[in-house]
Amino acid sequence: MNNNLDVNWINQKDVIEKTDVKVRHDAIAKSLDLSTEQIVEKLTYLDYDKAKQLIDLIQYYVGDKLNGTGIELGAGSGIFSSVLISAGLERIYALEIVPGLTKHVIPKVAKYYLKNNSDKVIPVLGTFDKISLPDNSLDFAFEYDAFHHSKNLTITYKEIFKKLKPKGILVMIDRCHPDSMTDEELETLLNKQYSKSFLIEHGYDANIKLTRRENGENEYRKCEWLDSIYAAGFNVKIFRTFYPKVNLKQLYWYFLSKVKNEKQQQRSLIKIFLAQNFRIYLSDYYTLASMKESIFIGKTIVILEKPE
Ligand SMILES: C[S@@+](CC[C@H](N)C(=O)[O-])C[C@H]1O[C@@H](n2cnc3c(N)ncnc32)[C@H](O)[C@@H]1O
Repeated sequence: MNNNLDVNWINQKDVIEKTDVKVRHDAIAKSLDLSTEQIVEKLTYLDYDKAKQLIDLIQYYVGDKLNGTGIELGAGSGIFSSVLISAGLERIYALEIVPGLTKHVIPKVAKYYLKNNSDKVIPVLGTFDKISLPDNSLDFAFEYDAFHHSKNLTITYKEIFKKLKPKGILVMIDRCHPDSMTDEELETLLNKQYSKSFLIEHGYDANIKLTRRENGENEYRKCEWLDSIYAAGFNVKIFRTFYPKVNLKQLYWYFLSKVKNEKQQQRSLIKIFLAQNFRIYLSDYYTLASMKESIFIGKTIVILEKPE
């Protein structure tokens, strides 16, 4: 029984110096009076049911792999760690680099949703680039919107690859830009400064100037994700993006544009329609394809396996 005692794999003093960690750590302190559900909503932008919907979908893809020991990388509120325990994992390390989250938020969320089973969630202060567990010891790894904070995707993937058992699974849900995105477009995104209202809403000091880059964001293209995934040695099982639901009217206009031979670049709505309605995937698994369940529109779901 750990009673949600938090474990430290890194020294709090070393990480708290980093701007992105410090602003988040300070912001957490101002959120602690909120209810557990409000904290989850604020940090993860969803509720328990939505998180469960996503894990149900993952279960559909990975079958009986949701058992044994898992790790959630960049766990934030830790809501997914709690849902993953309910779905079958025996225990899970909820790894976060922000001390306020491992000390206060992750244990609170686990107690609220898991009650007597909350000690199966082990909050860990650390970085996903250095996992202090034996090699080949984890059955399952999961990340939601955290790896785009990695400064070097190859280092991150190689570390997780080492710690997973052969046949172990890494599930990631993150944002993935198309390869056509230019460096200038990426720069513009990263240089964007947060608005005052965003800062206030998220508990930051309203007077600071904070760009997305300073907040630890990175913008990776599909080819960059895949290069690092393969460099680490993973096999790709699924690589798909949730698109908004395509309706018949859109399909009609899509076909009309084809008949008229209009050259404008667009997604293949017929592929998306078939995938969403009939689970027929006409793209290979590398291609951003739509899913039947468009519950997390815009996000990409990737399921990787460590070979035997
Ligand atoms: C956009 S948030 C997503 C949070 C979380 N997955 C959730 O569902 O609430 C990204 C999280 O990754 C964490 N993070 C960033 N870099 C990290 C690192 N090197 N190691 C562990 N966590 C990290 C951040 O502190 C932040 O909580």
